[in-house]
Amino acid sequence: MSSGARGSVAVVGGGVIGLSVAWRAASAGFAVTVFDPAPGAGASAVAGGMLAPVTEAWPGEETLLELGSESLRRWPGFAGELAAASGRDPGLRAEGTLVVAVDAADRAELTALAEYLGTLGRDTEALTGRQVRALEPALGPSVRSGLSVPGDLAVDNRMVLAALLAACGEIDRAEVAEVGPGTVRLTDGATRGFDTVVLAAGAWSGRLYEPLRQVVRPVKGEILRLRATRFTVPPPTRTVRCSVQGNHVYLVPRDDGGLVVGATQYEAGFDTVVTAGGVRNLLRWAEQVLPSISEYEFVECAAGLRPGSKDNLPLIGELEPGLLVATGHHRNGMLLAPITADLVLSCLLGEKPPTGGVL
Ligand code: GLY
Repeated sequence: MSSGARGSVAVVGGGVIGLSVAWRAASAGFAVTVFDPAPGAGASAVAGGMLAPVTEAWPGEETLLELGSESLRRWPGFAGELAAASGRDPGLRAEGTLVVAVDAADRAELTALAEYLGTLGRDTEALTGRQVRALEPALGPSVRSGLSVPGDLAVDNRMVLAALLAACGEIDRAEVAEVGPGTVRLTDGATRGFDTVVLAAGAWSGRLYEPLRQVVRPVKGEILRLRATRFTVPPPTRTVRCSVQGNHVYLVPRDDGGLVVGATQYEAGFDTVVTAGGVRNLLRWAEQVLPSISEYEFVECAAGLRPGSKDNLPLIGELEPGLLVATGHHRNGMLLAPITADLVLSCLLGEKPPTGGVL
């Protein structure tokens, strides 16, 4: 990837976080080796791709909101540079997010979110159901109110991964058993040495570095991929986050008429089975908001494991000299990729990170 004039770096994990770190580090002159037996095939491949820190915000998570908002600001530059480096379009969309509510309790939740965002000085616009449908005619009559959040972005997660893989070049597909300061031990017993190791193995990070075992946990999520046909109403143009009788579901459109519907959330260990109940629930909730979805082509269902942390904040920084970490991004791996890569690069360069580390 580069001349390696600045030293050698191993990045363990080839998801959006590991690949972003690897690409940025290689661009800055490090000799980077990425380890992953199936790069680009984990949780990042299952993501919806919404870059929506404001509508993912919850009271008490202000640090996450700030981090997410800063990363959102960096996304257009990140996407532009990635497109130039890889020759591939990362599929960035800028239509914003609509949050919509169905019943009275959902509406109350929406009002609470608008009030909370107002206290943080974030702009949102309250909409009636009719105004929501004027913006997005595909949404059905059960949508009773909404909130428009301009400024949010979305990406096609698989286009981002394809671009990152092209920018990173060759990946070492050896399976890693354990990481330590400057060392990567493989499952075949071999040990490889580097100036610095970056642990970016998502939900598996605790399996590769014992002290993180109780810190990072898998949080299962199932998504559906559907596609409008030429006989159906096209999907909404914006990301739509829906509260449907207390259940949360999001619809993220793709440029080709595709639609990602996500996501369930369970604590189920390392299980990645797609359950019939998960598919049924996502379809049932989505159909209440987007009635035409029942006529869409059903393309795929998949499950991934988000790397959950104790406070929903990612772990980014130095674990020990010669060992950095970038994991625990939970629901926000895609969103936080640009800022994570920049923070890790600052650590590699021995600089004080521009926004402070998160560890
Ligand atoms: N970023 C949304 C999710 O994890 O489902």
